[in-house]
Amino acid sequence: MNKLNHIAIIMDGNGRWATKQGLIRVKGHEEGSKRVREITKYCSTVGVKFLTLYAFSTENWKRPKMEVDFLMRLLDRWLEKELDTFLENNIRFKTIGDLSKFSKKLQKRIQKTKEATQNATGLTQVLAINYGSKDEIIRAIKKATEQKIELSEDNFNNFLDTYEIPDVDLVIRTGGEKRLSNFLLWQSAYAELCFIDTLWPDFNESELKNIIDDFYKVQRRFGGV
Ligand code: IPE
Ligand code: IPE
Ligand code: MG
Repeated sequence: MNKLNHIAIIMDGNGRWATKQGLIRVKGHEEGSKRVREITKYCSTVGVKFLTLYAFSTENWKRPKMEVDFLMRLLDRWLEKELDTFLENNIRFKTIGDLSKFSKKLQKRIQKTKEATQNATGLTQVLAINYGSKDEIIRAIKKATEQKIELSEDNFNNFLDTYEIPDVDLVIRTGGEKRLSNFLLWQSAYAELCFIDTLWPDFNESELKNIIDDFYKVQRRFGGV
């Protein structure tokens, strides 16, 4: 049977969800942020060890300032609110992406959340923020070069933001687009890919359960026979 250690989700479709209801786009982000708790808890109850959630890409800074500012404030508020959920559910919080672009206040909040949850032994929730695969790969190569270490397929992950995290088993993208948008390109080399039309704020446990059931039916060959 396939092992499902690591699920990675591209949480797309918040803006369209809001527009469809006649709301401004940021209302979709607010609603979408509420789905994260339910999905994280569900993953932890079915034995998934790592759940990576794409929340803000290196390209998302191109959006209108008002939307970017809203997302930064939402992230801060959300982390403050979620800390209890992490602690109650034995969830460890981590991030991938370059945090140096965020405000000092937000960086502090992120650091505090990581420290408060570092001894949790259940699921690890990995939030991808200011994350882009190309940026991560270039930063990794620079790190290795500085340390004069020759890179190989085996040691490359040690220099990536995902150094403690196993490769992705299953990538899910909500919102109907069939692309990876610069998400975990190295780590998803052999992942199963699942693209669904449901917009992120409408995603739920039962749809995730169906996707996981299908994952277990697939024959993963990794190049073998
Ligand atoms: C994904 O939803 C969340 C972020 C990128 C922050 P979008 O905001 O991309 O929603 P759509 O794709 O415009 O509907
Ligand atoms: C991908 O969604 C990034 C996140 C979900 C955070 P986008 O909406 O930014 O991707 P594109 O622009 O449709 O490729
Ligand atoms: Mg989108």
